[in-house]
Amino acid sequence: MADILITEPIESTAVERLRMGFDVVVDPELWRDTAAVIRQIQTCRGIIVRNQTDVTQAVIDAADRLLVIGRAGVGLDNIDLGAASSAGIVVCTTPQENAISVAELVLGFMLCLARRICEADRHVKGGAWDRHHFVGAELHGKTLGIVGFGRIGFLTAMRARAFGMEIIAHDEYLNASSILLAEAGARLVPMDDLLMHSDFVSCHVPLTPETRGMFDARRFALMKSTAYFINASRGQVVNERDLSTALEEEVIAGAALDVRQAEPPSPDALARRDDVVLTPHIAAFTQEAQSRVLHAICDDVTRVLKGGTAVNAVNFPFPQRENKQQ
Ligand code: MLT
Repeated sequence: MADILITEPIESTAVERLRMGFDVVVDPELWRDTAAVIRQIQTCRGIIVRNQTDVTQAVIDAADRLLVIGRAGVGLDNIDLGAASSAGIVVCTTPQENAISVAELVLGFMLCLARRICEADRHVKGGAWDRHHFVGAELHGKTLGIVGFGRIGFLTAMRARAFGMEIIAHDEYLNASSILLAEAGARLVPMDDLLMHSDFVSCHVPLTPETRGMFDARRFALMKSTAYFINASRGQVVNERDLSTALEEEVIAGAALDVRQAEPPSPDALARRDDVVLTPHIAAFTQEAQSRVLHAICDDVTRVLKGGTAVNAVNFPFPQRENKQQ
C-alpha cells in the first residue's frame, strides 16, 4: 500500500532515501490521468508532484489520509492551495532551490537575443558564413526590467549587473526600501515605466488571477521597438496572440520563451520566427537545481510524515490533519 505517491518523472537519490522509510510508488505518467491519481491517492499520506499534476479539490477530497503535498519546484498554479488548507494538509515547495538555474537561463536568453546566437548557429549549420548579417548589441549599458522581484528576479539582477546592465524592477508586493532592491542596485518603478525604459523585460511572476494574460497588446505597445521580452515564469501570463502580433508588426524586437500557454504547444507562428528563442520549460532543469529541489522536497515530506514541521510550507493549516499511521 503506497504511503507516498510520486506522479511525475522524478528520479533521485533523494527518492531512494525516501524508500528507506516509506512505501513509495513512482508512476511518472500518472499526472496525465486525474481519475487514476484519485484512485491511487486514497491510501497515501504524501504526494510529490512537479508542475503537471493537477492537485484539484476532487483529488484532495479523495485523499482521506493525505498529510502533505510536496511540490518539487516553486509554481503553485497546479495545486488547489485553498482546498489543501481547508482539509488540514500541508503544502510545501522548494522556493530557493532552482533560482540560480532559472537566473542563468535568463542571462543565456539575453545573450542569445542580443547576439542572435541561435539564429547564427542555424545559419552556419545551413552552410552559410555571413558575419555582416549578425551585427548584434552588447548587454553592457542596457536596461533590464524585471517584473516580479523575488528570489529569481534578484539573482537575475545580480548576474545582469556583472554585465554592466542597469536594473529596474516592478513588484506589486515590494517596498522601494527593500533590502533585495538595495543589494541588487535595482530601482523600483511603476509597471508602465519599466516597459517604456527597458531594453530587456524579464518576467518572474507566479500565475494568479491578477497575472494571467498581463503581457498583452497594450503592454507590448509600451515597450521600445528595440526591446526584447523574456518569460521563464508561466506561459499563461502572456497573451501569445498579442505577442505574435507585436513581433510581426515590429512593435518589439524579439522574445525568448521557456514556458508556453499550452505545454507542449502546437506549432505556431512564434515557432517560425528567427527573432524568437524557444525552450521546453527547462529553466529549472540542471543537475544542480534538480538535486537541490528533490532533496529539499523529499526532506520536507519526510519531516511532516514523521510528525515534524515542514521547512518550506506555504500554508499553515489549522488544525493539521491527524497522522493516521502514527
Ligand atoms: C517551477 O515552478 O519550479 C518551475 O517552473 C519548474 C517546474 O515547474 O517544475
